[in-house]
Amino acid sequence: MVDKNIKKQEILDAFQFRHATKRFNPEKKISDNDFQFVLDAGRLSPSSIGLEPWVFLIVQNMTLREKLREVSWGAQGQLSTASHFVVILACTDVRYDSDYVVDQMTKVKKMPIDIFQNAQVRYKSFQESDLPMLDNNRALYDWSCRQTYIALGNMMTTAALIGIDSCPIEGFDYQAVNSILDKEGLLEDGNLRVSVMAAFGYREENPKRPKTRRELNQIVKWVH
Ligand SMILES: Cc1cc2nc3c(=O)[nH]c(=O)nc-3n(C[C@H](O)[C@H](O)[C@H](O)COP(=O)(O)O)c2cc1C
Repeated sequence: MVDKNIKKQEILDAFQFRHATKRFNPEKKISDNDFQFVLDAGRLSPSSIGLEPWVFLIVQNMTLREKLREVSWGAQGQLSTASHFVVILACTDVRYDSDYVVDQMTKVKKMPIDIFQNAQVRYKSFQESDLPMLDNNRALYDWSCRQTYIALGNMMTTAALIGIDSCPIEGFDYQAVNSILDKEGLLEDGNLRVSVMAAFGYREENPKRPKTRRELNQIVKWVH
């Protein structure tokens, strides 16, 4: 059993090591085994009602990366140099009664049909009134996207734990990226839309400035 304090230090070191890498060393590639490990961290991430409403599109085709670069102001250095470039897609088909939800609950989570039918009543009221989203496709998409960010965070931390650099990316024209991916036939007829992107690789140079964060006492409030 690894000493708990050693583990804690390793994890804190990984958080300090991770920074939004602007350019990667284009010669240094992540091994298949290591990248699989990062993907598994995404796959094993939690999601609301266990929906896993994500697809990890790994764009290794440099022609497609160049098309994305033209509409991604926040990924100029990353798209051309990253060892692996991931576009995280969010499922849009996430109404309580959609094919995707039925499939996920009964086939992936293996809920018996009667249990699923009871759960579905709860999902319906959740989406109708607790966190209203049924009358608004944008709200459904946003809910899906929120889940994908959990996978994103886990993938970046996991990568950092094994010395892999990364950069999360929202700096792009969403409509343009969706249209590029749609033309490539990658959005399953509109059932998927881009949520966020992430570049992975090995840094070309260390960050110029030390990491800055607000202090814990500025962001934590205890209620006793
Ligand atoms: C959701 C999200 C989107 C981001 N988008 C971009 C981006 O498009 N381009 C970029 O260079 N950095 C991007 N960043 C990186 C942030 O600017 C960075 O995480 C923040 O300034 C803190 O710095 P650090 O990650 O190096 O500690 C993004 C971060 C997050 C979490």
